[in-house]
Amino acid sequence: MKPVRKAVLPVAGMGTRVLPGAKTTPKEMLNVVDRPILSYIIAEGRAAGIEHFVFVTGRGKGAIEDYFDHHPELEAQLEAKGKLDLLADIQGELPRPGEMSFVRQMAPLGLGHAVWCARDIIGDEPFAVMLPDMLMAADVPALKQTVDAYNTVGGNVVVVEQCPEGQAHKYGIVALDGQAGRLNRMTGMVEKPAPGTEPSNLFISGRYILQPEIFALLAEQGKGAGGEIQLTDAMARLMALEPFHAFEYDGVTYDCGDKIGLLRANVAFALKHPDLADAARAAITALL
Ligand code: UTP
Repeated sequence: MKPVRKAVLPVAGMGTRVLPGAKTTPKEMLNVVDRPILSYIIAEGRAAGIEHFVFVTGRGKGAIEDYFDHHPELEAQLEAKGKLDLLADIQGELPRPGEMSFVRQMAPLGLGHAVWCARDIIGDEPFAVMLPDMLMAADVPALKQTVDAYNTVGGNVVVVEQCPEGQAHKYGIVALDGQAGRLNRMTGMVEKPAPGTEPSNLFISGRYILQPEIFALLAEQGKGAGGEIQLTDAMARLMALEPFHAFEYDGVTYDCGDKIGLLRANVAFALKHPDLADAARAAITALL
């Protein structure tokens, strides 16, 4: 079984749920406490052994490339002022040369199309997809748990979570061949099912391990739900050829592509921040 070394991070969406903030700041660059959401996602990927991150960017997403690059004036000033902890923090996030690639999705045609844009860089090996607005807090990082699960079954693995009551029509929903433990064989999936037709209450939540055969299916695929080229539709077709497992990781997900989800993430991460937890608790208590 080939190891999972590369991850695709689709960041070309419009972020309409977090407007107006996402008008000029890519939603993946909105802060959770003291750093952009993407910073946590990259740390999660590295902890899972990812060696190469492929960002699928779009118009107005230049801040992402700038964040993962040197800022010589800022670094010189921090050094001159003796703010060496901050300097080390900033430099510690920088990629190794060649660790990140950026491809452009020239129009937001859908998640499936965004993933397809990364095909040449991924090549012929299994890869992860990380949806960067889904921030996953876990003792063992979520993608590491997923890669460990993948290493036991191979094929394709998608992370799923319990869907809040009555919300299944908003998500990609999986069908399972029985349920025992956290890793279960899938029998189907459907994007945004009509209310009452959902095959389970488990939705696909933002981490995937996929085989490269998905690209050929995406290449010929038309629009699906919402008029977008859907990754779920290509996965459903790939399932006829290769096994898929649904994996429920151990942790808590914050949907930072949503205003309340982003707020929850900020509160939760502040309450766990080594330097800020006490002050955050006091501030939140005072507000309540
Ligand atoms: P979302 O649907 O959550 O992102 O897509 P969005 O379109 O930015 O959100 P709203 O609904 O307008 O607020 C899931 C992920 O797929 C990326 C998004 O950037 C997000 O990370 N995506 C989506 C693309 O890269 N390209 C697309 O065409 C669509």
